[in-house]
Amino acid sequence: MRKWIAATAATMALMGVVCSVQAVEKKTIKQVMKAAHGGGANSLLAKVAGGKGTKEDAEKLLALYEDLAKNDAPRGSAEKWKEKNDEILKHAKAIVNGDASAGAKLRAATNCMKCHNDHKPAD
Ligand code: HEC
Repeated sequence: MRKWIAATAATMALMGVVCSVQAVEKKTIKQVMKAAHGGGANSLLAKVAGGKGTKEDAEKLLALYEDLAKNDAPRGSAEKWKEKNDEILKHAKAIVNGDASAGAKLRAATNCMKCHNDHKPAD
């Protein structure tokens, strides 16, 4: 019995470690929204899509959208969520690769209201 308790405690401690590592690896949707879209006209998205960002800015934005896509949609169709995220990732990658015309496409793909209407839970 004592052995069993010790083993259970060890397993739970290990699970705690694994969970906290995952939490560091992937940002939540809210964290991505803040980092990518916070600041209105001065947001990271506006800078990168407007062609005013550096390559590091574009890479940072792409990493944020990669995290966004790893999250499940908190509301609405999982299929639509994936479609939107695939589209965003496609254009964010193109910008990192130096495609200047991808900015406008990224702007369209990151339409705030369109995504919020489909997937943002009502508060
Ligand atoms: C691909 C989908 C998608 C796009 C595009 C998107 N959002 Fe969001 N956003 C979400 C979801 C889903 C939530 C709700 C997250 C939650 O409640 O966990 C959210 C939440 C937010 C929040 C609230 C964050 C918080 O801490 O409560 C803000 C602010 C926000 N979005 C801003 C924006 C702005 C500005 C844009 C456009 C530039 C935008 N979002 C585009 C999906 C999106």
